[in-house]
Amino acid sequence: MGQQRAETSGFCWVSRMGALVLLAGLIGAQRSEATKACGQPPVNLNRIVKGQDTVEGEFPWQVSLQWKGVHVCGGSLITDEWVVSAAHCFYQVRNLSQYQVVLGAHQLLNPGPNSRTCLVQRIINNPHYAGRTTSGDIALVHLATRVNFTGYILPICLPDASVFFPPGKRCWVTGWGHLRSWVDLPPPQTLQKLQVPIIDSKTCRSLYQTNMQGRPPYREIQDDMICAGYAEGMKDACNGDSGGPMVCLVNEAWVLAGVVSWGEGCANRNRPGVYSRLTSYQNWIREYIPNLEFVKDSNGQEPRDRADIKGQNHREKEFMCFDKKE
Ligand code: ARG
Repeated sequence: MGQQRAETSGFCWVSRMGALVLLAGLIGAQRSEATKACGQPPVNLNRIVKGQDTVEGEFPWQVSLQWKGVHVCGGSLITDEWVVSAAHCFYQVRNLSQYQVVLGAHQLLNPGPNSRTCLVQRIINNPHYAGRTTSGDIALVHLATRVNFTGYILPICLPDASVFFPPGKRCWVTGWGHLRSWVDLPPPQTLQKLQVPIIDSKTCRSLYQTNMQGRPPYREIQDDMICAGYAEGMKDACNGDSGGPMVCLVNEAWVLAGVVSWGEGCANRNRPGVYSRLTSYQNWIREYIPNLEFVKDSNGQEPRDRADIKGQNHREKEFMCFDKKE
């Protein structure tokens, strides 16, 4: 633990030393550090199977997207200025200045000294998204300023388009959403985690056909969607978790496999959670973040380099991220 914390503070320090890092990144000794740039929480997260409270710092990429100070959706930090979320969270974007992104929060009602709140510069909904029945339920949120990484604020890695998430692979979904339909997460609203196995699309489609008596499915499972959860129901993401991360371990880095998108109700039998599939959106994300590296599922390929996610600080705009007053 002590050692992990030491690495973390090194990280923070490094993030303030823009040019130095670019140089240091070329030095072999720094390469192992570079692999820690994304998907490496300082707290290990591989212990427990049921939906439950997270440990602070376990999911440092999780953010809360808020409208007029009210949590509306989750999201995932992917660089020091970009967040991935769901397009349906922003179907009608009202005044951009009314949105905030809260990073590094553990308890939503008590975000604490490790959290930062940022304003939003731009929200980019995927152009394929055209309402509830379509694909493309993914959005990029551009923060008004860059954040400094800490042990509680770190990016998640993105998977290369070639990465395959095999059925049964155990991943984690996190969020501050409802405990079941219409039941709020009770105060102080501690970030929840749930282990969810990947379900292949064929199985998922046939689950969603169950008990439909030949009627069309509630909603089609498109190719840019990935299912995860339980045929028997009982455990699932729910409203308010939307836009948040479903992460899996690939080559020792945590990568964003899916974005919480939809389900028929929450935790219903034969109706597992459906997520937007990140591997379908590599090219689209690259349009906006050209230098971003994507993790391949083969040996020799590192998670992306620190230089790509770090960038320089925009001190003049730093007032746009502030400590949350409790
Ligand atoms: N679409 C809902 C939201 O806006 C919930 C998404 C997840 N639902 C589920 N059963 N996995 O928060």
